[in-house]
Amino acid sequence: MCYDGAVSDAAEQAEPLGAGAEMSPEQKLAYLRERAAHWRAAQVLGTLRETMVFAVGNPRAQLMLVGEAPGSEEERLGEPFVGPAGQLLNKILAAMGLRREEVYISNVCKWRPSMGERQGSANRPPSAEELAASRPLILAEIRAIRPRCLVCLGASAARALLQCESGVGALRGSWAECQGVPVRVTYHPSYLLRNAALSARRAVWEDMLAVMECCGLPVSERQRHYFLP
Ligand code: URA
Repeated sequence: MCYDGAVSDAAEQAEPLGAGAEMSPEQKLAYLRERAAHWRAAQVLGTLRETMVFAVGNPRAQLMLVGEAPGSEEERLGEPFVGPAGQLLNKILAAMGLRREEVYISNVCKWRPSMGERQGSANRPPSAEELAASRPLILAEIRAIRPRCLVCLGASAARALLQCESGVGALRGSWAECQGVPVRVTYHPSYLLRNAALSARRAVWEDMLAVMECCGLPVSERQRHYFLP
């Protein structure tokens, strides 16, 4: 199996990812899931927990959403965005007229960043090294799915996919690009759960309206004036 994209990351040079043009998106994702389970670039860091949480959703989705890393609920259930942030994400998708099964949901980092003895239910964002080690996997997922539009949920996803250090406030509200796919950066659902400001909720919804237009989804008058709960 030969590697189909020119990505210069050291991790990928060490462990090239195959994704033959003749394979279906389902086959490519199954292959990537298997490769991720033995992804040495992440394992050798020794700073990520063992349970891998790969991704969920439709391999042929027009919309792909990328978060940061699994939390405790995700680790327990083996699925991204199933905790409180996931519940809010489901509501956002529903307001867009989408079901969770219709889109593809993944994380840059497939393992919960370790906090050792202090872990409990606490989480920390992935470090720059953890993001760099995980990046080839999410790039290969994007190449497998080729969505019409990609949403970065929060700064870690934006940092990994756009290779920039700017915060969400500076990046949101306009389009970027990753491997030829239009990218919208918006606030992470966890941020909305922590910050009840209406302005942040409205900002996310405005980003989602732009995403709907990019995906060719109809936008009703009611949706245009909607406010996230
Ligand atoms: N936050 C994320 O970024 N990803 C998850 O899967 C859950 C919470």
